[in-house]
Amino acid sequence: MNTSGTGEPVGGAVVVTGASRGIGAAVALELARRGRRVACLSRSGEPPDGADDPGRFSVHVCDVTDEVGLRRTMAAVAEWAGGIAGLVNNAGIHTQTPSERISRDEVVGVLEVNTVGPVLACREVHPHLVAGGGGLIVNIGSFWDRLGVAGNLAYCASKAALGAVTRCLAVEWAPDGISVVDVAPGYIATDMNRDYLASDSGERRVARVPSGRPGEPGEVARFVAGLFDDPVAYLTGTTIYLDGGLGISL
Ligand SMILES: NC(=O)c1ccc[n+]([C@@H]2O[C@H](COP(=O)([O-])OP(=O)(O)OC[C@H]3O[C@@H](n4cnc5c(N)ncnc54)[C@H](OP(=O)(O)O)[C@@H]3O)[C@@H](O)[C@H]2O)c1
Repeated sequence: MNTSGTGEPVGGAVVVTGASRGIGAAVALELARRGRRVACLSRSGEPPDGADDPGRFSVHVCDVTDEVGLRRTMAAVAEWAGGIAGLVNNAGIHTQTPSERISRDEVVGVLEVNTVGPVLACREVHPHLVAGGGGLIVNIGSFWDRLGVAGNLAYCASKAALGAVTRCLAVEWAPDGISVVDVAPGYIATDMNRDYLASDSGERRVARVPSGRPGEPGEVARFVAGLFDDPVAYLTGTTIYLDGGLGISL
């Protein structure tokens, strides 16, 4: 926990992209519950439900593909909290199209939000983490990063590339005291896939999960927030799968 004896937040803020709903909102709320100041970024600028303490939450309209907006937002967050301790690159989109019909715009659009956006956010947070003596970056990947999923070329490629981004930044920024990890969820029930999980095909896929159910956003949130509680600098560059065992089951 990162509260002072008085319950006041201590330490720099953690920036969470895509924090208006789903996994990002759950991560933001859990970080704040554990005593962090949290900056919530999204295109809509909607705060996570329940994020009503302006001392804990700072909410920003910021598209992760907008590098000028990212630079301005990181500076504003650092000023608000007196520094930045970490970043959770959670914002992401998903599309599905048979590959023989996929457009250039779809491929580029998904890679731009899911891979290029996190690279830009990492670059823009880097000077703030260095100023604070280091920090932790968590990229939210997907267990589809090592699978071939029909009709999901752009998404799978974007998350595989995010794993590579994680490894490169971990190597490059370890001397700065910055750890970078990729947390790759399995099926987590959110707006992104609620309809799919309720479909026949979704139910068949969930039936293959050894844990027997989709994950909850709160489970990802507890794991990610826990990484910030007492960071282990030696954990860096790796992808951690949080998928109920689906990725390693036959
Ligand atoms: N749900 C799953 O089963 C699952 C599994 C594996 C990995 N993931 C990954 O987990 C992350 C979160 O997924 P989710 O299921 O919580 O999705 P979600 O419910 O659709 O939420 C996506 C979040 O990203 C924000 N966002 C989208 N594009 C953005 C952009 N260009 N700039 C800033 N914010 C943006 C959205 O807010 P605005 O619309 O307000 O911008 C929203 O807050 C994604 O990276 C996803 O790929 C999800």
